Amino acid sequence: MKPRFQRPRPAAPAAPVSRVVTSLTNPLIKDIRALEMRKVRQEAGLFIAEGLKLVADAIEAGWPIRILVHRSGEEKPMLTRAIRATRQAGGEVLEVTGEILEKLSRRDNPQTVIGVFEQRLEKIDSVKIARDQIWIGLDRVRDPGNLGTIIRTADAVGAEGIVLIGDTTDPFGIEAVRATMGSIFNVRLATATPQAFLAWRKGFEGLVVGTHLSGRHDYREVAYAGRPCLLLMGNEQQGLPDDLAAACSHLVKIPMRGQADSLNLAVATGVMLFEIARGQLKLG
Ligand SMILES: C[S@@+](CC[C@H](N)C(=O)[O-])C[C@H]1O[C@@H](n2cnc3c(N)ncnc32)[C@H](O)[C@@H]1O
Repeated sequence: MKPRFQRPRPAAPAAPVSRVVTSLTNPLIKDIRALEMRKVRQEAGLFIAEGLKLVADAIEAGWPIRILVHRSGEEKPMLTRAIRATRQAGGEVLEVTGEILEKLSRRDNPQTVIGVFEQRLEKIDSVKIARDQIWIGLDRVRDPGNLGTIIRTADAVGAEGIVLIGDTTDPFGIEAVRATMGSIFNVRLATATPQAFLAWRKGFEGLVVGTHLSGRHDYREVAYAGRPCLLLMGNEQQGLPDDLAAACSHLVKIPMRGQADSLNLAVATGVMLFEIARGQLKLG
């Protein structure tokens, strides 16, 4: 099925008027539902975000919105502003029933507003890490909840972006986006094959700190201040492969006391990020 998503039209009249849709068989509703499939998301270059505040903040931050869907009868100043901004950006506004919102979000108790936004995904070649910036490299991250949580944590420490290395879960899948709690709009995302990452790394003079269960250094021993830093995290099942581990300037471990073999990927990333940000004096 070919999605019928329209390219944004030139600025429409700014009056907050919505198209009323009551049928699940409406073609646009079908297209939005199809965005649950990764292939369709990739082809259309779009993704879904849920929640009025989150959608309104994203529009305000300049994210291109294609469609704003809201529940009939909702009357909030923030929604009115979001509708107006969507129309000014040439996007479509749909007023729908609660049943349609349930189907779009696959939830019993859906949010009252859904936004369909254009994806932003860079190639690693465009990544230049400045002094005191933090980026994260994620090797083949599989779990959307982990990825969303890492994006949210990266946002919380003021990290600049994340490089998704190899075959990873889709950051624009609904589960990952939900777990970001809106941080998907605040953290840059780039992709790289392992080969492209290794080639990029040769030209990067900052720190590449890899985490490994057999890392030689305690993660608190590294001097993070004043240096651009890329934190490299391994796959949930297999950890960092040898070629990525060999590309690190430091290979560190987070000491553990109990019987657990390892930390969850998102938890380990959180521990590392707060230490790096503290070292760079970004956090008080
Ligand atoms: C669930 S762990 C992977 C465990 C995997 N079985 C292994 O042998 O590496 C996922 C990632 O989290 C990080 N990690 C988890 N616990 C860690 C620890 N105690 N020290 C350093 N890194 C850790 C590493 O990047 C690891 O590749």
